[in-house]
Amino acid sequence: MDSPPPRIATADDAAAIGRLLHDFNTEFDTPSPGAAVLGERLVRLLSGPSMFAILVGEPALAVALVSVRPNVWYEGNVGLLDELYVVPERRNRGIGSAILQLLHEHSAVSRIDAIEINIDEGDVDARRFYERHGYSSIEPDTGESALYYFRELVSPPPAGTSS
Ligand SMILES: CC(C)(COP(=O)(O)OP(=O)(O)OC[C@H]1O[C@@H](n2cnc3c(N)ncnc32)[C@H](O)[C@@H]1OP(=O)(O)O)[C@@H](O)C(=O)NCCC(=O)NCCS
Repeated sequence: MDSPPPRIATADDAAAIGRLLHDFNTEFDTPSPGAAVLGERLVRLLSGPSMFAILVGEPALAVALVSVRPNVWYEGNVGLLDELYVVPERRNRGIGSAILQLLHEHSAVSRIDAIEINIDEGDVDARRFYERHGYSSIEPDTGESALYYFRELVSPPPAGTSS
């Protein structure tokens, strides 16, 4: 791999992560509150125990964002992989795989017993990527497909994006 190794980010990386996440949404035509707003939120979130990020490169070229919560079925916590993004020109070079490897190593030492990911059904490339890394959308006890339901209780970000 010709890229720097992934590392656990700090709150000092918040602005760089905000820019990447804004680029992620812009690439996929999804509304974003803008890199600056995301960066401000991330300063706060990354300073607490409930969220961490993995970052690659200087300037940053890939990021994973993970929120952590307790769960009654595990002694440890459950991590939700909120975002995983590699800039388009650096994909298919093993960077996403290296991030997942660090995520699994970091989870082993920080008492995360399971990792969840929400993926759109039609995103077959991302589904193949995660399945190759051991993730499944099939409930092990029943063999049924797991569905993700949600209901927004606040207004979504305004249409259009800003930097
Ligand atoms: C999904 C995503 C994070 C994967 O990151 P990536 O860095 O491209 O992933 P990898 O390079 O580790 O693996 C991707 C492919 O490259 C191949 N690959 C892995 N290591 C490689 C290497 N060293 N050299 C060449 N190819 C490699 C893998 O076999 C894989 O092939 P596949 O198409 O059969 O799955 C990235 O494509 C991305 O940011 N996509 C847009 C955002 C997105 O969909 N995020 C996930 C939302 S849930």
